[in-house]
Amino acid sequence: MCGIIGCNGVESAVPVLINGLKKMEYRGYDSSGIAVLCKGKTVTEKKKGRVAALVKELERKANSEAQIGIGHTRWATHGEPSDENAHPHQSGKFTLVHNGIIENHTKLKEQYLKLTAMKSGTDTEVAVHLLNRFCSDSCLEAIAHTAKQLEGSFAFAVMYEDEPEKLFCVRQASPLVVGLGEGTFAASDTAAISENIHTLYRMNDGEIAVLEKDRISFYDFELNRITKTPDVFEKSSYTADKGSCEHFMLKEIYEQPEAIRRTVEAYLNENGFDLGLKPAKPERIFIVACGSAYHAGLVGRRVFETLAKIPVSVETASEFRYSEPLVNEETPVIIISQSGETADSLAALREAKKRGAKTLSIVNVKESTIASESDFVLLTRAGPEIAVATTKAYGAQLSALYLLGIYFAESFGTADKNELEEMKKALNDLHKSVSAALNCEEQIKEIAHRLKGIDRAYFIGRGAGFAAASEGSLKLKEISYIHCEAYAAGEMKHGTISLIEKDTTVIAMNTQTALAHKLQSNIDEVRSRGARVIAVTSADSKINADETITLPEVHPLFAVSTQIVPLQLLSYHIARLRGCDIDKPRNLAKSVTVE
Ligand code: M6R
Repeated sequence: MCGIIGCNGVESAVPVLINGLKKMEYRGYDSSGIAVLCKGKTVTEKKKGRVAALVKELERKANSEAQIGIGHTRWATHGEPSDENAHPHQSGKFTLVHNGIIENHTKLKEQYLKLTAMKSGTDTEVAVHLLNRFCSDSCLEAIAHTAKQLEGSFAFAVMYEDEPEKLFCVRQASPLVVGLGEGTFAASDTAAISENIHTLYRMNDGEIAVLEKDRISFYDFELNRITKTPDVFEKSSYTADKGSCEHFMLKEIYEQPEAIRRTVEAYLNENGFDLGLKPAKPERIFIVACGSAYHAGLVGRRVFETLAKIPVSVETASEFRYSEPLVNEETPVIIISQSGETADSLAALREAKKRGAKTLSIVNVKESTIASESDFVLLTRAGPEIAVATTKAYGAQLSALYLLGIYFAESFGTADKNELEEMKKALNDLHKSVSAALNCEEQIKEIAHRLKGIDRAYFIGRGAGFAAASEGSLKLKEISYIHCEAYAAGEMKHGTISLIEKDTTVIAMNTQTALAHKLQSNIDEVRSRGARVIAVTSADSKINADETITLPEVHPLFAVSTQIVPLQLLSYHIARLRGCDIDKPRNLAKSVTVE
């Protein structure tokens, strides 16, 4: 992951870099660092830990008046989090920041840098030494030559003391945008520079950008000039703050109804669907995603199979990309991703396209690589999501899948017309039910007090309830560090039930009214072995458990959308009581742009 930033021709580079790094901390927070050119000399400051630690360090130093600089926030891949491994890295007159992984760094070191002493344990350092080695007098030529030697993924921002008026940027399989404003700017994420720019260019793989103080030139790796057109860029969509909430995660849970309303309204109005898609009924659909987006895909499968009668395979992107997937022109592939930059999901998208499949992405970030490379994009309207644990974007993804499921059923004539009309109405009102579900927070706070000390929990459900259980389990483990497992309720008795002891916590998701009695049996089985069961259910479906969280009635197809709310709140409150770093859980990053 990691976030990189650069600026040139600004009044003072340090605050611009720090401000941008704070906005990209979600990409990794193992260390951060900046380098600026002061009177042609490189001045670097880097520190293990959060950007706040770097800011403290900088406060103790004289303020720099540099107008050009680069910065980095790190999610460690090669080399532990430390001051030495923090970026920027320097070799001779070159300084560089990197996002990605240089897969052939060991080979390159043996081939070219046998006698060069490495100061860090990173893969990145090899790149900066190669620049130094390959440079005769043109930095641009050294960059192009170096880039062609590298395998893996990289977005670089590079400064060179002999060309102090230029900032060099390179992209290969890691996100990078550049822009013009009062100066020129580059970053892994538009949000980091949105307040500085009026014109944005999204870089493509195999491109180099040279940023002078008032213009940007683009080249390919053969140093041919490229003409690029600016991307559409809406400044307003990049503001994000915590408002009155203690954490972004809580604010985002509360923004979920609005995210759902906006997503549904964008594609469904009183005249019907406005999707711009003309689907022919396929033999099979693939849904590919990672993490929570994968869990949304599991719900999507239920919806598509129930309504559109199409068999659906749901795959994690990291498996799909290397699995020789049985995908061709006849099998559309749906990629789900909040960020639109997840490396595995992007690779899966490219693999699907290579095999001739039509691709549709459900993405929250319009300017993202996945959005730009897909044949069709269904944008979720969740707005910027900052907390590493996704909540409102997941809610919006579910709505997008419901929209598609109903639309497919309508287009293929696979469901009763009146029922589909009912569903459309229910989907238009879904945000109200999700809003009402938020009323369970006081009950959840009490449960969180009781559960804050547990060391494990099991989440069970059937059908879509299992998908909800999977998401609830991920949410709790990722921010509270409690070991959680999700199980299809009927599977418990095939092994996992041996782990149930007195007072083991089991959370049961009752999303399938028709299967409530089956889930009830599974609840009884674990309760009779000592488990304390908390059931989550809709008002119209009764369940006996040690405690029940009852949510407003909702169309059964959409039950996961309301039932996930108490699980998100429970994770939040347990993590808060355990003193965890909720918005930035350990070892994680929001946007996983490495394999
Ligand atoms: O940006 P994406 O939706 O592609 O991200 C996928 C996963 O990395 C993400 O959902 C992750 O699992 C979240 N931390 C879960 O809260």
